[in-house]
Amino acid sequence: MADESVPEPAAVPEPAVNYANFSNDIYLNGLLTEQTPALTTDLHALADTARARMSPAAYGYVAGGAGSGRTMAANLESLERRRIVPRMLRDVGTRSLARTVLGTPMPAPVLLAPIGVQSIIHPQGELAVARAAAELGVPVVHSTASSYDMEEVAEAAGDGPRWYQLYWPKDDDVCISLLERAARAGYTALVVTLDTWLLGWRPTDLDRAYLPFLQRIGIANYLSDPAFRAGLAKPVEEAPLDAVVHWAGMFADPTKTWQRLSFLRDHWSGPIVLKGIQHPDDARRARDSGMDGVVVSNHGGRQLDGAIGSLEALAPVVEAVGDETSVLFDSGVRTGSDVLKALALGAEAVLLGRPYVYGLGAGGQAGVSHVLRCLLAELDLSLALSGHRDVDELGPELLSGP
Ligand SMILES: Cc1cc2nc3c(=O)[nH]c(=O)nc-3n(C[C@H](O)[C@H](O)[C@H](O)COP(=O)(O)O)c2cc1C
Repeated sequence: MADESVPEPAAVPEPAVNYANFSNDIYLNGLLTEQTPALTTDLHALADTARARMSPAAYGYVAGGAGSGRTMAANLESLERRRIVPRMLRDVGTRSLARTVLGTPMPAPVLLAPIGVQSIIHPQGELAVARAAAELGVPVVHSTASSYDMEEVAEAAGDGPRWYQLYWPKDDDVCISLLERAARAGYTALVVTLDTWLLGWRPTDLDRAYLPFLQRIGIANYLSDPAFRAGLAKPVEEAPLDAVVHWAGMFADPTKTWQRLSFLRDHWSGPIVLKGIQHPDDARRARDSGMDGVVVSNHGGRQLDGAIGSLEALAPVVEAVGDETSVLFDSGVRTGSDVLKALALGAEAVLLGRPYVYGLGAGGQAGVSHVLRCLLAELDLSLALSGHRDVDELGPELLSGP
């Protein structure tokens, strides 16, 4: 019989996952089997592989930006401009990348950005992405504009962490219904996208007159929604074009203002994050409106051409609200060292966008897994090589000049 006076042994801490070992695995596998990785480990170059395997319209939809593409380029430049100044002899043998963000534990401060209409990229679309992310415990942010609806994606994700991204519709009943479904399906945080009340001017898609939503791709969350369906004169199956017209009429509402945020608060009990913030005053406004976080993002340069590179906005927003509000970052992140830079400037976590979509296009679920493994390995290596053991140690002093 157990002696009750004997104290419980201390919980054994989980060993930190050594993501950097992915590179050793690749070299060793090459030595033993003469095999090289099925996909390139250069996440910039992966776009070319994806391009060769995707339809020109789908590739153009993903790769294209607004207007001249200057903001899309500025996102990369703003990350390129800041450089890391590494520190030496600091025992970086064991490292920890794990972090809990807005109540969600994650193996590294990395989430998959909400990206819509993924079935144009691969037939398994968001399902393949959810499976790949769940394998590693990386959270996905499910887009309102998905090809598969939120319940299907939740099932594919299983126990995997997930947040829900809202394109805030004009119709309040549909909005409430989407939020209730998301909560029921296990999405724990709400990300509200503020920069897409109107679609940006996108020449790549305009020149092809290509908008997948009009072909009923990317509106699964609406078509399966009881409140949306209640607004249709005939069932979707009988009058599919009417459903598209109904969707187009409610997709977004450019008349919304800060005062309306209380509506979301009333209908969502978890954390709420505003995505698309670029100005510190808007970040303060978000905080003052009771929001739990912001994503410093310009939608990957797909909305307002001529806007600043997103990384330029990060430090001022962190300075304005970072002590009281979670500040996340996206737009232009391509490598582990990009993630390191954003963390150094105060981002609590980073959203990865186009690279995982290129992984999906190049190799389906396995392609997304590959991208995540590459990114986490390079982040782990960058952390070590810059002289840090824990993502919590990072600060702006890690980077050279402004
Ligand atoms: C093809 C595509 C579709 C996107 N769809 C959405 C979406 O449905 N909801 C949303 O909030 N953001 C969407 N975004 C923006 C991403 O969430 C993210 O802000 C952007 O991809 C970051 O830029 P990067 O991929 O260049 O790093 C989309 C981006 C791309 C490339």
